[in-house]
Amino acid sequence: MTSVSKIAQWKALEADAAGLAETSLRGLFADDPGRFERFSLEAAGLFLDYSKNKITDAVVDHLIALATAADLEGARARMVAGEAINATENRAVLHAALRDFAGRTYHVGGEDVSRLVYAERTRMKDFCGRVHDGAVKGRTGKALDTVVNIGIGGSDLGPLMAVEALRPYWVKGRRAFFVSNVDGQHLADTLAQLDPETTLFVIASKTFTTEETLTNAQSARAWFLAQGGAEEDIAKHFVALSTNEHAVAAFGIDADNMFRFWDWVGGRYSLWSAIGLSIALQVGFDNFEKLLRGAHAMDEHFRAAPLRENMPALLALVGLWNRNFMGAGAHAVLPYDQHLHRLPAYLQQLDMESNGKRVRADGAAVGCATGPVIFGEPGTNGQHAFYQLMHQGTDAVSADFIAAAVSQTELGDHHEKLLANFLAQPEALMRGRTQEEAREELTGEGRTQSAIDRLAPHKVFPGGRPTNAILMEKLTPETLGALIALYEHKIFCQGVIWGINSFDQFGVELGKQLARTVRGELAAIGEEKPAARAHDASTNGLIDRINAIRRRAEGN
Ligand code: F6P
Repeated sequence: MTSVSKIAQWKALEADAAGLAETSLRGLFADDPGRFERFSLEAAGLFLDYSKNKITDAVVDHLIALATAADLEGARARMVAGEAINATENRAVLHAALRDFAGRTYHVGGEDVSRLVYAERTRMKDFCGRVHDGAVKGRTGKALDTVVNIGIGGSDLGPLMAVEALRPYWVKGRRAFFVSNVDGQHLADTLAQLDPETTLFVIASKTFTTEETLTNAQSARAWFLAQGGAEEDIAKHFVALSTNEHAVAAFGIDADNMFRFWDWVGGRYSLWSAIGLSIALQVGFDNFEKLLRGAHAMDEHFRAAPLRENMPALLALVGLWNRNFMGAGAHAVLPYDQHLHRLPAYLQQLDMESNGKRVRADGAAVGCATGPVIFGEPGTNGQHAFYQLMHQGTDAVSADFIAAAVSQTELGDHHEKLLANFLAQPEALMRGRTQEEAREELTGEGRTQSAIDRLAPHKVFPGGRPTNAILMEKLTPETLGALIALYEHKIFCQGVIWGINSFDQFGVELGKQLARTVRGELAAIGEEKPAARAHDASTNGLIDRINAIRRRAEGN
């Protein structure tokens, strides 16, 4: 396997980038009235405008040629065929099977997993129905109107993001909380808002071994018992979402209260599985199913559309162009929709845990930059925080601007103002402002010549900052599903071209291992512990200091 950066198609793109060095994006628009039509497309209820990237037809041709040389279409076929494309963990990658409504069958190791998916989804539907109509009761006979999802990473971010995005669809009278951090304040602050008689704890963990989740689950259990619950009441107030039946049983949750998924569902790709139970409980199972159907519509587009008309593939390719040839090391996710406020956090895990890799699937160095730093905030908040750097900083940052033409919640002229910003910011990033324009504006303000000379450099915007616009009619369960699937497939396409395995995450392990060692060296409050000496001087010094402070705090 050769590094992608060594092949002819890569060299052609390097030549394209060099050839465009003196060309402005503004100029590309001025010279080509058909640019918007050519560099935009629609699929699964989403419209993508990628014309505000510094690309030409030749660049797109070369990007498609690169994807073809990397056998993107073959990799796509291998994924949907259930091959163990997650080679380092020897696992298939079949989250699309969780939302297949086309009647396809998916096999893993000879087993038809479509039947398992359907059976588990039916159990979820039945459970949701019984919770919603009050048939599932707490220990004192009251209906359960509150869900606390205890999970972290993919067992938290997806459900949390979706529940927030679908606020107008919440089932009346229901409350949902999400506890992820091992910082006890997260759980304690949540518990303070709960009625133990009407709360259902949903313990979400693919492995059921994650320290944060098990610690929070044990503490929630202890709280429940301290509030008057008995051991035999646990079954009424705790359910588990996991692949690990043994660990769930060891925790004390019986099989009837467990909703299963499988090792071919990656944690960050799991909201479509049993991990979506908290979504279904909060927005209703029908809306959860619509979310799956929206993702399915994007899957159908992704599997069938030729690369040149394929939204995830094109989003991946312009992203790769910006990352590898335009020098953009960071990518901003900017939803102009308050209900999508957790989308950037969700995509941080999806993208950075998938493509934050430095070796190829065969273990050799990748030889080029891979996944960018993902960050973001809802618009317009980000405009008053970090957009300064995007407009005038020294580093190129690419961005996705995401909006719905119709708000979920119309209020006066708020939405027009929001959309005006959604449109104006990418235009400003693309156009920039020249010296002459800056001077003209200052002259128009009646500034003196010396003020104009002094201020003009500060008022220049280089422009040419690459952005995509993703527009939908309205944020609904369907369009949200399509949006998430769009990003899942985009990330997959980039991973294939870089030659990395996007489906493992060994990079999170080292810190976890070290934390276990350090945990044994931190003194309990008030306890005398000899100074730890097993680490570097900085870690040792901090351990000593924390132990000393905690001893002192106990003394007070
Ligand atoms: O630490 C990373 C990770 O393994 C993620 O990939 C995963 O989403 C998260 O931890 C939680 O894992 P689990 O669902 O097994 O508790």
